[in-house]
Formats: sequence, C-alpha cells, structure tokens
Amino acid sequence: MRLAIIGGTGLTALDDAVPAAPSRRTPYGDASALPQRCAAFGEALFLNRHGEGHALLPHEINYRANLWLLRELGAEAVVAVFAVGGIRAGLADGQFVLPRQLVDYTWGRDHTFSMSAKPVYADFTEPFTPHLRERIRTAANAAHVALAADGVYGCTQGPRLETAAEIDRLERDGCTVVGMTAMPEAALARELALAYAGICLVVNPAAGRGEGGITLAGMRRVVASARPKLLRVLAALAGVG
Ligand code: HPA
Repeated sequence: MRLAIIGGTGLTALDDAVPAAPSRRTPYGDASALPQRCAAFGEALFLNRHGEGHALLPHEINYRANLWLLRELGAEAVVAVFAVGGIRAGLADGQFVLPRQLVDYTWGRDHTFSMSAKPVYADFTEPFTPHLRERIRTAANAAHVALAADGVYGCTQGPRLETAAEIDRLERDGCTVVGMTAMPEAALARELALAYAGICLVVNPAAGRGEGGITLAGMRRVVASARPKLLRVLAALAGVG
C-alpha cells in the first residue's frame, strides 16, 4: 500500500528530499507544496501541509488539492502529522497521541469533492481508518515510542488559539486534544477512498490547562526535541526503520 505522509507544524520537511512530481497543479487549484520523496522513507511521499516557509494558515490550506495530488501520484494511504494542544489531564508536552475520533468545529473551508449532480455521502463513523491506525501502533512499538491510543481530536478554525471556556466545551464534547488541520483533510481522504490516520504531537497544554501563555516558540521547541522520535515512527511505518 503506497504511503503518503502529510507533515504539519510537527514536521515541515525531511532531510535529503527530492521532488516527486513536476507540478503542484490540480483541477482544484495548487497543492501546498510539491510532494517529495527521500531515501529514509523508501517509496513514501511527503507533503508539507502549510507550504514553504509555513505560508498557509490552517484555513488557507487547499486540502482538496493536497489530497487529490497525492492520490494522482499513487498514494493509497495517508498518515497525517498534527501538532496539537493537550486537553485531557496528564497529556504532557512531547507526548504522541493516536486519534481514533474527531469533532469538527471548522467552517467555511472547501470541505467536499461531492457535487449535487453526483452526490457522495461518505460514511464517516470511523474518521481514522482502523487498519492504518493499527499499523501506526505497530510502528510506534517497533520504534519504542510511547503512543496514547485513544485520542479524540477537536478541530478548531483558528488561526487564533481557543479561550479557556472553549477548551472546557471541547472537553465536555469528549475531545482530548485540539488542533486546526484534521478537517476537512480526513473527510476528503474518505471521499477519495484513501486510508487515513494521524499522529498527534502534543506541543502545549490547551488554553486554560497550563501555566502561562501559549507561544509558537514554545511549540517549536517541543517539535524540535520530539523530531527524532517522530522520524523513527515514520521510518518504521514506511518499512525502512
Ligand atoms: N489549539 C489549537 N491548535 C493547536 C494548539 C492548540 O492549543 N496547539 C497546536 N495546535
């Protein structure tokens, strides 16, 4: 099964990567970046969700073009990397979480390929593909990286972070982590019949759950220190670890 990795704030680039496509153009507009390949990940494709220099905010990302292009290049399974805030008590910075469910709080994004002339009502009961989640669990075990397996991802619109009361609401809704990019990405993958699952990296306590403010610099520090572990999991997943 040909794998594609979509990297976010948690993983923006791979070392020694080369372009895997001549263009990022699709019928839905331009993808965020040219998909890449690198020897450390075998045949797997890599796409930087936020584009070069993190130019695209979560609501500006062309999720349709990204998934369309990866499928055009032969991807059958997509593993998405997300930086998230931790809501559930005990989720520490630097911890990895495997989401099994999500709640969508986004609005105004191009969220479907479905058209009234040819409607698709995709079954989304399980937003993350069970067999791919299982593969991620196995890869994390092989890489000796702890992974909390019961995540519920609350996807907010951003780009602002949440209020403490909004996080309380998300917790009442059952969310254990919060991020801004799993939707509509997960639903579009389902419409294209791509297997899809994610790896969340907790980069801050969600609003009202920690001491002090939430800063991008703080998130980046966590990302940098977690990078080697994340790369080990992805290499195991791609079958080269
Ligand atoms: N909220 C939303 N998205 C995020 C957060 C957060 O606290 N941290 C990283 N992405």
